[in-house]
Amino acid sequence: MRLIIMPDPDIALRLAASEIASHMTSSRHPVLGLATGRTMEGVYGHLAALHERDGLDFSTTSTFNLDEYVGLSQDDPRSYHYYMHDLLFRHVNIDPASVHLPDGMGQDLDAECTAYEAAISRAGGIDLQLLGIGDTGHIGFNEPPSPFDTRTRCVTLNDKTREQNASMFGGDPAQVPHQALTMGVGTILEARHLLLLALGTAKADIVAKALEGEVGPQVSASAIRLHARCTVILDKASASGL
Ligand code: GLP
Repeated sequence: MRLIIMPDPDIALRLAASEIASHMTSSRHPVLGLATGRTMEGVYGHLAALHERDGLDFSTTSTFNLDEYVGLSQDDPRSYHYYMHDLLFRHVNIDPASVHLPDGMGQDLDAECTAYEAAISRAGGIDLQLLGIGDTGHIGFNEPPSPFDTRTRCVTLNDKTREQNASMFGGDPAQVPHQALTMGVGTILEARHLLLLALGTAKADIVAKALEGEVGPQVSASAIRLHARCTVILDKASASGL
């Protein structure tokens, strides 16, 4: 694992964006695994700026997001579809047909998850998977316990996660959906490279558990330590528990 601790959050965000950009420019048809959450907002801001300022080309890039809430439509401002469109896709020259997120409005959610895995395989697998970390130690929405061989599936969200993500729902955890579709830990581990980014003091304890505690299903982010090509970017605050 390559661990990089940056002096402040903005430098960490810039580094994460430039790592993604260098993966994109080193492949003819890059396949990116994308993440959501407040931490990633700055990454997408920097990527959009790299497109605008330096001509970073998204025209041959495909993307697969980690997760989506069940029961939110694509144009619901609280959905991850909307988040991605708003923060990244509408700012860059990506082909809308190359953008993939699980459909949490599908009639048959199991079939949707199977189809999502198949689409990742058809694209040739994910080159670089971007990851945040939730307060429960989740990557994607892999709440504890999530065995490391889990695949894309429908999960029930932990109350702590619903609280953590309430800011997108008017601050009210009761408004946060109880279920989500998420890539499994096994799906994530199949990406050729992993890039986990965490910022701020609030993440210090869970980052320490993930990187230095027991490796196992109780902290799904600990699985990244089993991956041969994994980079972790932290700021000083999120690294303060190490
Ligand atoms: C959500 C996402 C996770 C992400 C987490 C971190 O729960 N499903 O993939 O890691 O948010 O959120 P934040 O960056 O807002 O702390």
